[in-house]
Amino acid sequence: MTRFEPNLRIPGPTALPPSVREAGGRQMVNHRGEEFKALTKRVEAAMKPFFGTEHDVILLTCAGTGGLEAAVVNTLSPGDPVLAVTMGAFGDRFAKVAEVYGAAVTRLEVEWGRAPEPAAVGAAAAAIAGLRAVLLTHNETSTGVTSDVEALAAAVRAAAPEALVLVDGISALGAVPFEMDRWGCDLVVTGSQKAWMSAPGMAFVAVGPRAWAAADAARMPRFYLDLKRHRESQASGESPWTPAVAVLFQVDEGIRLMQAEGAGVHARHAACAAMTRAGLRALGFQLLADDAVASRTVTAAWIPDGLDWKAFNGGLKRRGLVVAGGQGKLKGRIFRLGHLGSVTTDDIIAAISAIEAQALEAGLAVRPGAGVAAAQAALVAAEAR
Ligand SMILES: Cc1ncc(COP(=O)(O)O)c(C=O)c1O
Repeated sequence: MTRFEPNLRIPGPTALPPSVREAGGRQMVNHRGEEFKALTKRVEAAMKPFFGTEHDVILLTCAGTGGLEAAVVNTLSPGDPVLAVTMGAFGDRFAKVAEVYGAAVTRLEVEWGRAPEPAAVGAAAAAIAGLRAVLLTHNETSTGVTSDVEALAAAVRAAAPEALVLVDGISALGAVPFEMDRWGCDLVVTGSQKAWMSAPGMAFVAVGPRAWAAADAARMPRFYLDLKRHRESQASGESPWTPAVAVLFQVDEGIRLMQAEGAGVHARHAACAAMTRAGLRALGFQLLADDAVASRTVTAAWIPDGLDWKAFNGGLKRRGLVVAGGQGKLKGRIFRLGHLGSVTTDDIIAAISAIEAQALEAGLAVRPGAGVAAAQAALVAAEAR
């Protein structure tokens, strides 16, 4: 069936609302001029509540990975002991960045599909002499698991008070509540193409006082991603290098929409996640993550044994639904549905409906209407909460 726009259900880049798309098509402005300075300051101020911080939010022109690299190179020196808590492909990437720059990385590897236990993280942190930093992933996009950053940060603080807590919050910040300052996180990263409903191209890095103090002593090489240099420029509404002007136009508009929706942003993500999980389960799919650790921005499901995924996914595409495959060791074994950013509950009904139709076509044991009915029931239950 023709859809005039695909139902882009990958966990970023996320679909752009019409006004965000239009914002990206605006004429350029002088990036050293007054209008752009006001824009920079407006976006920084508007982002802070979503991070739960009163500290700086640095606007970088780079992919999310650039934000992770900035986290590492601005706070650490070669040889520094670092604990990387990894529960999937993105946790591995964060660890890798620290290794590439010469940190002495110890990995605490959690089984993919599970979340780290605070006690285990505390014990691992306590066991490393002179620990400088702990790398956490808030929302592991490759598995659809969200970790309890509040509890993990508290465990780190108790075990190794001097260690920095550096958080990859790329795929959940904005979509779910986050309290950087209250939870004791020192640096948190997110990216424009996720909950912010904008095109890829910018990373946002919130930096607390302990991380700034670490930056004074950190000896890892840095130039483009030098956060102190960015802070200096940003103080007057500028960026040291030419920024992604069109992306920032979009982020400005995306945040305006999020502010207008208020607490509804979080409720909408919670509802969409619950609907996705209920719908997929009703269609017989096994989910990777337990409910207790399930992400509100991405859901991963196992590909059933014997299902020709290539053909199945081709059918989904014909029905206008674009989902993501697995990454790393889960490649070919799972598929993922993103439900973040501009996602609506109607998008989820449409996604489950397409999967249901494709499951019927593929001859899976599915009762017609079961997936959509379960998703609708989950919606009504979420609305009642
Ligand atoms: C949790 C997480 N970390 C890091 C990244 C990397 O971001 P980017 O692809 O923008 O470099 C992603 C992107 O999907 C992510 O979801």
